[in-house]
Amino acid sequence: MNPIGVNIQSLKRFFTLYKLAEMGATRRTIKVSTEYLAAKIGASQQTASRHLIELEEKGWIKRNITREGCLTKITDSGVAQLKKLYSGLQMILEAKYPPSIILEGILFSGLGEGAYYVTRDGYRKQFIEKLGFDPYPGTLNLKLTTEYDMKTLSELEVYPAVDIRGFKNESRTFGHVKCYPAIINNKVKGAVLSALRSHYNSSVLEVIAPTFLRNMLKLKDGNKVKVEILTLP
Ligand code: CDP
Repeated sequence: MNPIGVNIQSLKRFFTLYKLAEMGATRRTIKVSTEYLAAKIGASQQTASRHLIELEEKGWIKRNITREGCLTKITDSGVAQLKKLYSGLQMILEAKYPPSIILEGILFSGLGEGAYYVTRDGYRKQFIEKLGFDPYPGTLNLKLTTEYDMKTLSELEVYPAVDIRGFKNESRTFGHVKCYPAIINNKVKGAVLSALRSHYNSSVLEVIAPTFLRNMLKLKDGNKVKVEILTLP
């Protein structure tokens, strides 16, 4: 779970934990008044006080209220929360690739050739083995319409991909295909293919999935479809 939580209140409370850490409370017991803490977090004294109560309830800090003031220390569990944020940030900032990229395109019908390619044994076996699903026979064609989307698609070139080897059968050769695991309309796991059909240019995305997407996602030609491409670890 995300240490910060999912709403703005928990984010603010996490910020208070962070401020306590800045004051040294991960290493030693510090004396901090709610007035001082309030000024540090840019909130009222009541809010600061509520945050302290909530952080203590979560087990992230320990408090000892004495005559001299409130003695506070961040617990091991609190430190672990801060470390989660730290490693999350490290991943984001140091990763070679962003964790995902989102493209949008308009659904259109092709000439019905997708099914032919996807069902070639030489491809299909590799899809099953390398993507973990047996694709529905066909590809969902999406036309990219904005410059942003086209530029993003061209950037995909340098991302690590699942490689589907080309092969030959009696009649012809089939080229090498790069696949990128993706989530379609926030719901269905599938993959984006590059270079399955060379006549589609850089403004077309071809998507495969284990299910018939038109049915599953209630899509028809002209609909906008969102594809979140997941970069590989
Ligand atoms: O090339 P064209 O889009 O005409 O056909 P296809 O690639 O052979 O795919 C057959 C039909 O299934 C098309 O209408 C695709 O849009 C659709 N399809 C789908 O809904 N879900 C998939 N996972 C793959 C294709």
